[in-house]
Amino acid sequence: MSEMNVPLLDLKAQYDGIRDELEPIIRGVIEDQWFIMGPEVAEFEKELAEYVGVKHAIGCASGSDAILLALMAHGIGHQPGKPIQRVICPAYTFFSTAGSVSRLGAEPVFADIDPATYNMDIDATRALAQKTENLAAIMPVHLFGQSIDMDAWLELGKEFGVPIIEDAAQSLGTKDSTGAVVGSRGSIGCFSFFPSKNLGAFGDGGAVTTNDDALADKLRILRVHGGKPKYYHSVIGLNSRLDALQAAILRVKLGHLDDWHTQRIDNAHRYTKLFTEAGALTSATPIGEQAEGLAIRTPTGVDGSARHIYNQYVLRVPATIRDDLRAHLREKNIGNEVYYPVPLHLQECFLDLGWSVGDLPHSELAAAETIALPVFPELTDEQARYVVESVVAFVNQHAAQVV
Ligand SMILES: Cc1ncc(COP(=O)(O)O)c(C=O)c1O
Repeated sequence: MSEMNVPLLDLKAQYDGIRDELEPIIRGVIEDQWFIMGPEVAEFEKELAEYVGVKHAIGCASGSDAILLALMAHGIGHQPGKPIQRVICPAYTFFSTAGSVSRLGAEPVFADIDPATYNMDIDATRALAQKTENLAAIMPVHLFGQSIDMDAWLELGKEFGVPIIEDAAQSLGTKDSTGAVVGSRGSIGCFSFFPSKNLGAFGDGGAVTTNDDALADKLRILRVHGGKPKYYHSVIGLNSRLDALQAAILRVKLGHLDDWHTQRIDNAHRYTKLFTEAGALTSATPIGEQAEGLAIRTPTGVDGSARHIYNQYVLRVPATIRDDLRAHLREKNIGNEVYYPVPLHLQECFLDLGWSVGDLPHSELAAAETIALPVFPELTDEQARYVVESVVAFVNQHAAQVV
């Protein structure tokens, strides 16, 4: 197969597909000169609430701010003279899941993941919750676009009397095993519209979702410095508003989102089929446990009413060859990424929390073994086959001795 170029994400291809629809709308916002909040934001919030299946969707400046706002709406953070509050979150996720907890003066407590799905492990979380003092919330992440088992997590929240805040930053449109869209069943759902997300803005953007009227009121006040009415502040909030331009762009893109999801899902299924035909197993089997076959583990996939939206398509390969595989793919012009090379409990900024190597082995192994491949909607069959062929050839050549 001839050499080709396969970027990790091709936003230009997406833009080409919607340019005619988008450009007059962007011009309209510029003509209006209404840039912060306003009717475009209100309309987007209505449409987003409908899409997620919740009463309230509230735009904000980023996914990280969405998490900050959710925690603040629950009253989580430093309170002078009071013991430190703690929030359990996964060790294997994007930094801001835990960074937002620390930023407010609360303490993240890291739970290990289920190695098959990469999502936070519920048994590990229960064990941690039993010994965590001043537990204020549990914040699982629907990682890579795959839902946690919401029924079980909501029960866990009840068991410990704390809210389940959903970090759904990678998962707008993901469905849980009941068919519900994520972000609709926890106390608050947190979304990111960072450009690489399935629904990406032309800059930063985020939103929170909830069915709770009182929380929605708080969230709306907190995003405008805690002022209600304007210039009267009973609480201290943030400047975290969604721009009208971003809202207008997101409204257009939301209309295409399910088609893009379908294309991503098809791409992911094609990858899994091709890797499986080449001898790969799913990540339900640890990579060191099979002497024969190919040392590649595909995502496990989901059944029934659940929907995985494949914000990322993540493989496992032996840790000893992962970085060389990355370099090889770069040479072949195949974009790839590692989400995430350092689990959060081992990040330098959290060293004072006292975690050590070996504490959360599944998170540490995932950080060493995983590699994300291009899965964007416009990926062609030819590109996908080139990616699979390149990965399989390299792993066959280099991994036989390490499996
Ligand atoms: C799991 C997770 N949480 C939170 C965020 C933060 O979102 P943002 O980049 O919009 O601040 C991201 C974005 O990368 C994410 O992937």
